[in-house]
Amino acid sequence: MPTHKLNRTNFGNPANTGNLMTIEEAHALLNEWVPNERLRLHMKQVAAVMKAWAIEKEKADEITALKWEIAGLLHDADWEKYPDDHCRIIIEELEKRNIDPDVIHCIASHGPNYFGVEPKSVMDKMIYVFDELSGFTHAAALIRPTRYEGLEVKSVLKRLKTPSFAAQVSRDDINDAVSRINIPLEEIIQFIIDHQKDVS
Ligand SMILES: [Fe+2]
Ligand SMILES: [Fe+2]
Repeated sequence: MPTHKLNRTNFGNPANTGNLMTIEEAHALLNEWVPNERLRLHMKQVAAVMKAWAIEKEKADEITALKWEIAGLLHDADWEKYPDDHCRIIIEELEKRNIDPDVIHCIASHGPNYFGVEPKSVMDKMIYVFDELSGFTHAAALIRPTRYEGLEVKSVLKRLKTPSFAAQVSRDDINDAVSRINIPLEEIIQFIIDHQKDVS
């Protein structure tokens, strides 16, 4: 990934806490910035999984769940148009729009080894976990005739151990991300299968 370290640790303004955009506005931004449908699908899948995790596992209220969803939906929004400045451009856009600092920090932490920002909150840690694993699980579904139908966790795990499969997905990043939380990889993959299979 041709990315640069952000060289910052603070994002957004605490005075903007609770200030979000509607999910429609977030989708509009995504559609405008990301013409590539496959890349948009990746972000919609991460958003769906983030939102579901917030509600089901973290018992989040509506506003908090929306934060998780927006972070997921916009985390790669600048990737297609500004690959050399990935993350910096969307962060600056959200700062300009006075968006909640939790959302911006979450986006900044989705690749600590690339952007140099350590995940702090549960939301930060989960976007890091879900980012690569969501795309990897999708790749594992796409090669099956029935796609997600009947896709089992153990077959995704087997593919993870096959370096040639989806070779661009960093197993080191996945292991690093999962090592920061206290949830079995099997549970994470099952959750991803269940919550992104119908996203289009
Ligand atoms: Fe990214
Ligand atoms: Fe991503």
